Parts: sequence; structure tokens; C-alpha cells
Amino acid sequence: MVLLCSKNRFLSRLFFLFEPSFDREYEYTLKGRYEALTSRYQNDYSNANLRRCVHRIEKGLFHKYRKDQFGKDLLTELYREVKSLDKFPFVDKNEVDWSINTLTEYKSFSYDQNKVQECIDILTDLKTNEFDIDKSRLEIEKQNPKFSVLSELYHARSSVRYFTEQKVDLSEVQAAVDIAKLAPTACNRQPFSLHFLDTREDIDFIGGLAPGTKGFLENIPALAVVVGHASSFRFTRDRHLVYTDSALFLGHFLPALKSIGLSSCVLNWVPDWNNDRSGVEYLGLDLSKTIICLVAIGHQDMECSSPVSTKKTSGVLLRYKESGETNEV
Ligand SMILES: Cc1cc2nc3c(=O)[nH]c(=O)nc-3n(C[C@H](O)[C@H](O)[C@H](O)COP(=O)(O)O)c2cc1C
Repeated sequence: MVLLCSKNRFLSRLFFLFEPSFDREYEYTLKGRYEALTSRYQNDYSNANLRRCVHRIEKGLFHKYRKDQFGKDLLTELYREVKSLDKFPFVDKNEVDWSINTLTEYKSFSYDQNKVQECIDILTDLKTNEFDIDKSRLEIEKQNPKFSVLSELYHARSSVRYFTEQKVDLSEVQAAVDIAKLAPTACNRQPFSLHFLDTREDIDFIGGLAPGTKGFLENIPALAVVVGHASSFRFTRDRHLVYTDSALFLGHFLPALKSIGLSSCVLNWVPDWNNDRSGVEYLGLDLSKTIICLVAIGHQDMECSSPVSTKKTSGVLLRYKESGETNEV
């Protein structure tokens, strides 16, 4: 264990070769990857890579400096996914509508308008789910004012990538943390911390290590780095709690920011050995810490719109058993 605590990557690999608690993780990661690479997505009624492609096209459409033509390879990938959709008995209705709307917008910016149209035609002919419990939300909103306030707040939040130059007031972020910390957390441990950066140098360094900041990093006025504390756990079985607990925290934090006029965008962090270590060391932390994700924070540049990012129908997300049968979504 002492040796493991040294900086030796090889020894930690050797240790986990004989440590079975990660086996299930290896299994589902590999099986998941196989499903994704073969576009199978069994029992999902949704194609995750199609969603990713549509999302990337939307980001291109809403880019501050939109190109006249973009997404050549993206369209090839999207086309392949669209053709795989007939494997499903039906496809999530919102996913299909969102894809059609985005592709219709995109058509004139694409390299191959015929291919885009073919995708739209295939999508239009797909069978989608009719039952959508989103409608029950509207009924509950009428009866419960508190639910209605929450609903309005959550609907108002969306990821914002273009900000004004206005500085972010630390006291506002502190106020949002004061609410976000009320989120549930396993054994009340709160195995994470939030590191607020608002100098250009810090933002560019940490943000530059993240893969998804290209094209808008330079206008982010503040960055919150979410750091997971593996040192909170005496057992390897608890390792996922750095992710679940900090995600629950963020689920409170982002709407809290929104409610006081601050916009945000979560930014992906790939736990690449070198980048994660550089980031952790840059923040002056010990190597039992790991970066979970970043959050760009600022005042929205109202001249730039955000992608629509339509979510799945709730009927596809919420599965339940009705008299022994899975709900027919
Ligand atoms: C864990 C996570 C990582 C994300 N990474 C990035 C990123 O690297 N770059 C980016 O522009 N957006 C990123 N996003 C924002 C998502 O693209 C966005 O949440 C999604 O499209 C849904 O849109 P919405 O937040 O407006 O509802 C990330 C979001 C999450 C939750």
C-alpha cells in the first residue's frame, strides 16, 4: 500500500489486476462500448451517438463564428446512425423531432444536402412513441405552486457557452454553493470541493486541459473546478461516490446560479493520467484528488443563442412495471 501511494502507475495497475471490485465495471464498460460501436443500444429506444451527432451539429449552428459549411465527417457518422434506427420497435419521439428540426436548419450549411434530406426522410417515416408523460407535469403544475416555480427555473436553465466580459461576483457563487451543499450525499461525506478560478491564466490553463472547450474557452470569465476526494473512502467499492455526490451537488448548483442571473455550462473532464495530474497539481492538491468536471460561469452574451438540446420524452426515461409487465412507452 505504501508503494501504491508512491507515484507509480505500474504498481497500481498490478494491484488492481488482483482486486476484483472493478470487474463489473470492466464488464459493463466493454459491453457498453460494443453496443455503441455496433449502434445496437438494446432496450434504449434511442441512439446515443445520433444524439451526440445532432448535438454537435446544433453546436455548430449556434457557434458565435458559424462556418458557411461544416460537419462533413459528422454527417457521415450521423447518416450511419440514422440508418440503424429501424432496429428499434419505435424511437423516442422527442429525439426524432429534435433531429429533424436540427437537420432542416443544417441542410444549407452541409456539404451534401441530398444526404441530409435522406436522413430527414428516414426519420420522418420512423415509428415513435405516442405516450408521453410530459403532459402529466402540466397538470401537477396547475395544482402545486412550488412545483410550478421549480419547473420554470429548470426550464429556464440551459448550457451557455458565450458570456459577456462582466466579472463574476464571488459572493453570488458562494450563495449558490450555500444552497447546493444541501444535496444528498452518501454518509453525509460530501467527498468533493469546488475551486473557483477567475484569472485568465488559471482559466486558460485548466480549461485548456479539457477536451470540449474549443472555440469558447477564451470568453469564459470564471471556472469552477469540481474536484473529487478519493481520500473520503476506505473501500474501493465506494469509488463512484465522487461522481454521484458531486453530480447531485451540481444538480442543485446550476439552477441556483440561474436563479441569481448567472449562466453556466458543465465541461467534460477526461480522467487522462497526465492531464488530471497536471490539473490537480496546478490547484495545489494532493494526488488522492481527481477532477470530476469543470463549470463555466458567467453572464450570458445575449447576442448568442444556445442550442435547443431537446431532451428525451419522460415516458422513455421513466420505466416501471404495470401488473408484471414493463410499461409500454
Ligand atoms: C458531464 C458533462 C460534460 C459536458 N461537457 C461539455 C463540454 O465539454 N463542452 C460543451 O460545450 N458542453 C458540455 N456539456 C454541456 C452539454 O452539452 C449540455 O448539458 C447538453 O447538451 C444539454 O444541454 P443543456 O445543458 O442546455 O440542457 C457537458 C455537460 C455535462 C453534464
